[in-house]
Amino acid sequence: MKRPYVFITRKLPEEIIAPVKEIAEVATWPHDDVPVPRDVLMNEAKKADALLTMVADMVDEAILDAGKQLKVVANMGVGFDNIDVQAATKRGIAVCNTPDVLTDTTADLTFALLLATARRMVEAAQFIKEGKWKSWSPFLLAGVDVHHKTIGIVGMGNIGKAVAKRAIGFDMNVLYHNRSRNIEAEKRLGATYCSFEELLERADFVVCLTPLTNETRHMFNKEAFRKMKRSAIFVNAARGAVVDEQALYEALVSGEIAGAGLDVFEQEPIDASHPLLALPNVIALPHIGSATKETRTKMMELCCRNIIAILTGSQPETLVNK
Ligand code: DGY
Repeated sequence: MKRPYVFITRKLPEEIIAPVKEIAEVATWPHDDVPVPRDVLMNEAKKADALLTMVADMVDEAILDAGKQLKVVANMGVGFDNIDVQAATKRGIAVCNTPDVLTDTTADLTFALLLATARRMVEAAQFIKEGKWKSWSPFLLAGVDVHHKTIGIVGMGNIGKAVAKRAIGFDMNVLYHNRSRNIEAEKRLGATYCSFEELLERADFVVCLTPLTNETRHMFNKEAFRKMKRSAIFVNAARGAVVDEQALYEALVSGEIAGAGLDVFEQEPIDASHPLLALPNVIALPHIGSATKETRTKMMELCCRNIIAILTGSQPETLVNK
């Protein structure tokens, strides 16, 4: 019998993909830092029974249509806004993601970004390396306190709850907004549910952890930034397009908000000349929320297990299709 064909859109460690090779022919885009070109992905999709994709790969209707024998798209990320899940479901193609294994790692990075922005850590590190430190002085690189302040978490899923847990360790007051109330977060973490508007008005730190959907696209717009405190710090570790970046830029320049810590951008990779990157009150990271060796390894392994499950007729661990 013909073995199934699996295409992987980045170079992954041999030992991780070895179990897939036991049941399938596997081809891999040979780079780990250059995205697979669309025409290559299209051609591979035509032959593939399974695709292992990254969050940067666009898997739209055209790719799914090309995949006449495609059975599964296993996406290496908890987010799957890069995949047209509805179109996949209509064609009987399974879509899998990698939740849970990255929860704590992403929460760590989100909280670190909040702390780094509040305490101006990147600016301070740059300052000392540039030989600018002349003496201790009372307000030298003074930031703002995080402890005992109010954090407002928009998107109270698993990562939101893990960030709330870290915030409690800093004696913070935790507000959240979500599509629906999260009773567990309220009972276990003492988080208080608020409307989006109330959260924006009350939070010292507004943390965006909501998935990108038609409802959340540009949810953080001009009006949203206008409602925040002038001292507020905005942190985004979800998806860039949840934010209107022009509105964010204007809010930061005009002093409508005090600072931003950003791990994600509307266009990734963001151009180094983007005006947001020139602002001293912005800390920008290249989408590294889940980027630890341990967690990225677990994400790859989960993708492989999901592919093997689908190709051998069993239930995948983390199916997205409803
Ligand atoms: C995710 O898991 O969706 C992240 O953004 C990718 O690390």
